[in-house]
Amino acid sequence: MQSKVANLPTRSVRYLEAGSGAPVVLLHAFPLHAEQWLPQLSRLPPRVRGLAPDLRGFRGSPPFVGGESPDVTMDTYARDVLEFMLHMDVPRATIVGLSMGGYVALALWRRAPQRVTGLVLANTRASAETAEARAARDRLMQLAEADGAAGVAQAMLPRLLGETTRREQPDLSDVVGEMIRANGRSGLQAAMRAMRDRPDSTPTLATITCPTTIIASDEDAVIPAAETQAMRAAIRGAQLLVLPRAGHLSNLESPLAFNDALYRAITTPPTWTSN
Ligand code: MLT
Repeated sequence: MQSKVANLPTRSVRYLEAGSGAPVVLLHAFPLHAEQWLPQLSRLPPRVRGLAPDLRGFRGSPPFVGGESPDVTMDTYARDVLEFMLHMDVPRATIVGLSMGGYVALALWRRAPQRVTGLVLANTRASAETAEARAARDRLMQLAEADGAAGVAQAMLPRLLGETTRREQPDLSDVVGEMIRANGRSGLQAAMRAMRDRPDSTPTLATITCPTTIIASDEDAVIPAAETQAMRAAIRGAQLLVLPRAGHLSNLESPLAFNDALYRAITTPPTWTSN
């Protein structure tokens, strides 16, 4: 699939696009990029338009332009996605975010709920970083400074893929490693800072009034099951689907099951009730 570039008034965004119809915007995890969504974009349900941008600083979207500060927050990414949507003539969309993409999806909901027709929150959480997680983030930032994306790939890969995937699909590790190494150091560092300092989105969950599907997987070493359960309990009417034999990158590890869950989320979204 050929990538494209959207030249927004203030910045350029590299993205992948497939299908036509109801828009679905797919937000990738850290430290990946838009190609993470190839298994979904290549098998979209009928009458669905899928758009997957590289978030700012990932692969083909520059980290900052002109005199912009290199510092970003989840809100910066959310604003970028909203600008991208407008540019693509997409006033409202189903927003799908996996892990960091989910952090961005929640920031986007806070900023512009009227632009969201539905949410799919995959392998993600609402809570802010613990002191321990912040310290780990600092160590990974130092590693990125010394060894760039290759160092980040080496450090993160073992946690990103589930045990079953590592055993049964050994090649996927190379594919994900290649994706990570396509990213530049400064974009990765900016994203790590943004994740480290992100606000607690737990209070946001009770404000969600659009149909929401939560996707988790039973071999996810990054997101504890308790975080997923807490999100489901706090979002009214949210539906939870747990994919078996998949790790953190569930959409890549178990694409058929993920696509099925996505299909259901788009075509028969859970209903939201005000009671
Ligand atoms: C991701 O997959 O986006 C990251 O693992 C999220 C995180 O490190 O918090």
